[in-house]
Amino acid sequence: MDLPSKVKLREVAPRDGFQSLKDFLPTEQKLQIIEAVVKAGVKDIESTSFVSPRAIPQLRDAADLLAQVPRQGVTHAALVPNLKGAQNAISAKVDQLVVVISATEAHNQENIRRSIDESLGDLDSIFSLAKGNDTPVIGALAVSFGCPYQGDVSEKNVFRVVEEYISRGAASIILADTTGMATPTRVQIMVLRFREQFPGVKFTLHFHNNRGTAMANLLAALIAGATTFDTALGGIGGCPYVPQAAGNLPTEDVVFMLEDMGVSTGIDLEELITAAHLLEKFLGYPLPGQVMKSGPRDPKLAAKICGVGQNL
Ligand code: COA
Ligand code: ZN
Repeated sequence: MDLPSKVKLREVAPRDGFQSLKDFLPTEQKLQIIEAVVKAGVKDIESTSFVSPRAIPQLRDAADLLAQVPRQGVTHAALVPNLKGAQNAISAKVDQLVVVISATEAHNQENIRRSIDESLGDLDSIFSLAKGNDTPVIGALAVSFGCPYQGDVSEKNVFRVVEEYISRGAASIILADTTGMATPTRVQIMVLRFREQFPGVKFTLHFHNNRGTAMANLLAALIAGATTFDTALGGIGGCPYVPQAAGNLPTEDVVFMLEDMGVSTGIDLEELITAAHLLEKFLGYPLPGQVMKSGPRDPKLAAKICGVGQNL
């Protein structure tokens, strides 16, 4: 297989995961999870969102959290839906902004209560504010591979917003399968066309597992030339404005698979599984991740950290 020698994983559990919880996770526990993934070697974290506390009460502690996160060697991004979010995030000394716009009108309305054009109308002010504060902006596209309200999404609708981001100097683009509607062929076509249309532009793939295709999608993207992926500890996550939202790709499952295939992630699997167990303890129910249950390949290590085989 023609694979890259290394990839970058952006840890999105603190944003995509915690936003989807039924209850508010105390700031202190959020911090412990961030510290645990940093200990495992994670360097890029989407740590929170600066959104309306009425829309996403689970992340109402965004500024308080950012005031306490470990900063050394770690980049903290925050999702923002509008100029007000960007202002609050910059005041809280975020390292990167992730602006989110949906590829369809219906999802943009549900998610951020605006038309796509209204969202685009904020971009000039967001980018100039960010530039004035030396803060890179990442442009994210929700529902890039399918919409729970409108169905199929055309590449034209995705690339229209991508162009708006790039023309204003976006540092990179995130193509999100918010709804788990992507399949490997769609992913391969999207990645190849993106690279053709926007040569040299950095991009990230963000896969949800609503229909069980997320890991296959990651492999298809990797083979087509993608080298950055969003993943979430324990496989938590989901957009509150997607019916039946399911988790992101579990970071530890991705680390297990890629490292075994000779693709370096820079992340320590044993420490990551320990972090996933801590998260499961905080949440109090089984998480979707598989490797946190089955453990690494080494049977002794699997027995030690996951208790595998001890009851046989
Ligand atoms: N952060 C905090 N508060 C915000 C805000 C932001 N980014 N943007 C707007 N608000 C506040 C306004 O100040 C106003 O407060 P007030 O009533 O106390 O004056 C209130 O929210 C309503 O403002 P309005 O512009 O009318 O927003 P809205 O009610 O139409 O909601 C969003 C729009 C974008 C703020 C809201 O839908 C949202 O936060 N969505 C985020 C969804 C999300 O995170 N989805 C998952 C990630 S993909
Ligand atoms: Zn997501």
